[in-house]
Amino acid sequence: MTTLTKPSAESASSGSGALLEVTDLSVQFPTEDGLVHAVRGVSYSLRAGDVLGIVGESGSGKSVTSLAIMGLLPASAKVTGSVKFRGRELLGLGDKEFSRIRGKGIAMVFQDPMTSLDPVYRVGYQISETVRRHDKNASAKAARARAADLLELVGIPNAKDRADNYPHEFSGGMRQRVVIAIAMANQPDVIIADEPTTALDVTVQAQILEVLNTAMQETGAATVLITHDLGVVAGMADRVLVMYAGRAVEKGPVDGVYYTPRMPYTLGLLGSLPRLDDAEKTKLTPIKGSPPSMVNPPPGCPFGPRCPLHIDKCDEREPDLVEVEPGHEAACIRNEKLEGDVEAADFFEADATDLTLAEAVVADALPSMDGASAVQPATTPDERA
Ligand SMILES: Nc1ncnc2c1ncn2[C@@H]1O[C@H](COP(=O)(O)OP(=O)(O)OP(=O)(O)O)[C@@H](O)[C@H]1O
Ligand SMILES: [Mg+2]
Repeated sequence: MTTLTKPSAESASSGSGALLEVTDLSVQFPTEDGLVHAVRGVSYSLRAGDVLGIVGESGSGKSVTSLAIMGLLPASAKVTGSVKFRGRELLGLGDKEFSRIRGKGIAMVFQDPMTSLDPVYRVGYQISETVRRHDKNASAKAARARAADLLELVGIPNAKDRADNYPHEFSGGMRQRVVIAIAMANQPDVIIADEPTTALDVTVQAQILEVLNTAMQETGAATVLITHDLGVVAGMADRVLVMYAGRAVEKGPVDGVYYTPRMPYTLGLLGSLPRLDDAEKTKLTPIKGSPPSMVNPPPGCPFGPRCPLHIDKCDEREPDLVEVEPGHEAACIRNEKLEGDVEAADFFEADATDLTLAEAVVADALPSMDGASAVQPATTPDERA
């Protein structure tokens, strides 16, 4: 088995200590209907070993944020703000320079494995080519051996023989394992996994999360995990960023955000978590209403029309993301209303009326978190050292 070596946390970071620093990132797409404001002022930073979960409903801008970071948006997209990797600005970088960073510095795992795999090449070849793209000194033989090692590491049985298969000869779950092997191939500093399990069935999802966890441990990469499943975030991430209508509306440590959410939207998301102990509840209680148009967003809080705490003042201007506790930020002028015990009936129509809000949220969230805990919690950088 090849040994995987990694630069120390110190040498991997820029002066600020951040590996990846996203500041005020915005993306607009010109369309026939007008300018789509897909991402609006998203900021986050990742240090070595960090695991950040990004959650939010469909269309909230999670993928566009990641594609902007990777320089993979169509040329028509207008991207502003700053994305620094190891202190170096990535926005505006030429394609050639960017391709040196992609895969080696920042690797991405997409939702659909076929997006990342080429159907006409054997999987072993695709992995070994990834290795050789960034390591010109690697011989073909060494790269092939590394490919087999990686396939074994992600749990492909008979890895050496399977390396000669084509992607279509693998199941969806196996293909996603291959994609994770490719992401790991060059010991990236950062892995961005965009809904890595959404296309897979539930039993395979848990296995893939374990593989992703192995990838995180083996490479020591800081990880951004984008998912619809708040249970997955609870099991794997240290911090969470909740997106709504292109913005971060709540940000903070997983515990703080889950147990004392301070933005009603986050509460709604927690309320719509599937419960593994109750088949009927897995239908979810979706948050009422739908997100606003991103072409002409209304002036006030974009969640206002769907919010049970809505008052007229919410429509005046969009609330800033403000610190509500150390390290925990929320964009809601009424966030104090969520401090302490709030009646669950204010938020959930269902059967939770006797519970306090906090109890209802925890009761709803915990069964799913248990489901995700089959996955080892992420280690801290210290444990990994
Ligand atoms: N090339 C494009 N041109 C115009 N609009 C786009 C383009 N790509 C994305 N959008 C819009 O940007 C917004 C954010 O999309 P994005 O794919 O980031 O959502 P998401 O949070 O990843 O959703 P999902 O959970 O469904 O993956 C959406 O309104 C989408 O329609
Ligand atoms: Mg997406």
